[in-house]
Amino acid sequence: MLEISPTQGGRGRILGPGPEALEAAVAALSEGDVIGLPTETVYGLAADATRGEAVARIYEAKRRPAFNPLIAHVPGHTEAEAHGLFDADARRLAAAFWPGPLTLVVPFRPGSAVSALARAGLDSLALRAPAHPLAQEVLRAFGRPLAAPSANPSGRISPTTAAAVAAGLGEAVALVLDGGPAPVGLESTIVECRGGPPRLLRPGGVTREAIEAALGKPLAEREQGAIRGPGLLASHYAPSAPVRLAAATFAADEAVLAFGPLTRPAFIRPERYVNLSPAGDLREAAARLFEALRTLDATQPAAIAAAPIPGHGLGEAINDRLLRAAAPRV
Ligand code: TXA
Ligand code: MG
Repeated sequence: MLEISPTQGGRGRILGPGPEALEAAVAALSEGDVIGLPTETVYGLAADATRGEAVARIYEAKRRPAFNPLIAHVPGHTEAEAHGLFDADARRLAAAFWPGPLTLVVPFRPGSAVSALARAGLDSLALRAPAHPLAQEVLRAFGRPLAAPSANPSGRISPTTAAAVAAGLGEAVALVLDGGPAPVGLESTIVECRGGPPRLLRPGGVTREAIEAALGKPLAEREQGAIRGPGLLASHYAPSAPVRLAAATFAADEAVLAFGPLTRPAFIRPERYVNLSPAGDLREAAARLFEALRTLDATQPAAIAAAPIPGHGLGEAINDRLLRAAAPRV
């Protein structure tokens, strides 16, 4: 007979918002456990950033191949200053976009309680103040920074719903807090501010145009060949089906990821067609991208054919994620 112990019994369950869910989340984090945490970008796999053994559970749950640095989440800029050293550019960006979908990589502040494992031993630290009200509640109630990568098994599509977290990670998480569909739908933009010109490490939920306007100068590009983490590796965000980019024609056994006026070709099955935004709105398309990839992938098509998407604004991050989803798998 299968015995289920009381502590294992309810693992991986989805809890709706409310005081009891908040209490359960804080209790799990206090025990060094990991939880699924809604943020405005994607759901995170969160644990106490100050405890190495709690952070180790994140890597274990995600099955990340190596220890790669994690983002430490804090309620706001004031709390972030305890963990990182902010120059004038970093302060300007924090003031303009926090709380929100921006991550700042800054020099690690000696004496900060963030564990070396959370930053993978680097002398820099990625910090973000998420805007999602539930993330804010958990961070303020817990009172310590939370290390949180996207809550997907390594290399797979990031989750934008509580159900997707539970499906991908199940019992590896103590519980999943349900904050509804993530409104931005793409991970945060990552900008490195380490004394030199601010550098774009990953396009994301805040557009390059908005960041450059706040800085009053252009962002520097990531150095060629400088791979600093799995989210920056070529193959990532991968559905099971191969992904074909900038598709203009389609085969009958393919699924179609459309954008704008492209309607469903008659020979494509209805469940194999998703239009990210018939109106051509990039914000709407970003919010729907990962769930659309999941939905189409579940129909087991020969390939997912993605229509071209403009490269400005949030289109830069959408195209970045599609390019990685289409990259050769290792
Ligand atoms: O929107 C987001 O950023 C979500 C939510 C949960 O906050 N988090 C997220 O985390 O996307 P993750 O681990 O999937 O992606 C974070 C990326 C990784 O590619 C990691 O290598 C990079 O940030 N990173 C973390 N710390 C870094 C550091 N000190 N220097 C350079 N890159 C860093
Ligand atoms: Mg990720």
